[in-house]
Amino acid sequence: MTATCARGQPLVDVFREAAGRMGSRSSAWWLVEAITGAARTDAVSDPARIVPPGECRRIAEAIARVGSGEPLQYVLGSWGFRRLDLICDRRALIPRPETETLVEVALRELSALGASAGEVPARGATVVADLGTGTGAVALSLSAESASLLAGLDVQVLATDLDSGALALARENLACLARGDPAAAARVALLEGSWYGAVPSLYEGSLSLIVSNPPYVSEMEWSELDPEVRNFEPLAALVAGPEGTEAIEEIVTGASRFLRTGGRLAVEIAPHQARTVAATAVAAGLVDVRIEKDLCGRDRVLVAGLAGVRRD
Ligand SMILES: C[S@@+](CC[C@H](N)C(=O)[O-])C[C@H]1O[C@@H](n2cnc3c(N)ncnc32)[C@H](O)[C@@H]1O
Repeated sequence: MTATCARGQPLVDVFREAAGRMGSRSSAWWLVEAITGAARTDAVSDPARIVPPGECRRIAEAIARVGSGEPLQYVLGSWGFRRLDLICDRRALIPRPETETLVEVALRELSALGASAGEVPARGATVVADLGTGTGAVALSLSAESASLLAGLDVQVLATDLDSGALALARENLACLARGDPAAAARVALLEGSWYGAVPSLYEGSLSLIVSNPPYVSEMEWSELDPEVRNFEPLAALVAGPEGTEAIEEIVTGASRFLRTGGRLAVEIAPHQARTVAATAVAAGLVDVRIEKDLCGRDRVLVAGLAGVRRD
């Protein structure tokens, strides 16, 4: 970082300098913590701790990348999502806080299915499809969290993506999950293809939950996004088409073919799309259509279901 860096530099100075250069104390801490392994409290409890020259150099390089507009998450190479630390790079969208709400809603829907004994399949697994999995954020979280929340339900997750690069990244994240929670990882299958085209036909009429955070930006909106997003995150993960609702419509209209009776659908949307996509769900014959809000109080998740109770 500075000239003294040749001999290493005290942690507290490294942090101060990083915050000054980045113009953000929280970003500076993410970066310093990720590279040095130091906790924020170490700057107070162990202010003389020396950051070795190699780490100082890596911090300086990382600050330069962030300064050139690259998202911090890609520079760090990993990012937290719910309980997971996911590998992040340009092959897939950076998982967003809004999508943590999508997972929350999906878990609630699964939980409600579990509580409603008449709607739980008498045999076999509760199969969930995460369409457009990217890093695997949604699929891996659902598998990892459903085990404790839904004891007794054998949840299997099909995680799909059209993009082979994104799927390769999801596979790396799945391998990380397997090291900490092998049972959760074993419940996830990765499949390549376009939306329902990736889901084997044997699952028609048998999915308990379809969940998706599809691209939902219009071509026009894309040109107004932050350069940090436009220049680094995959176009195919963001833009759906001229309207922005094209992918959501495909997922909503195809849902009744793959859901079992009583099955549920949860799709992330942009707040301004709420009315349109709710109408699409009603027109597609889905029931119990509603919109859930994110933590900022904005319309964020379309929820709907397939009518009927399975009789065995
Ligand atoms: C908004 S990103 C969401 C990624 C991840 N689920 C998340 O929430 O962080 C949308 C994902 O959909 C994928 N995708 C785009 N078009 C697709 C299609 N036709 N079929 C399947 N996946 C598609 C993209 O490659 C991208 O990974």
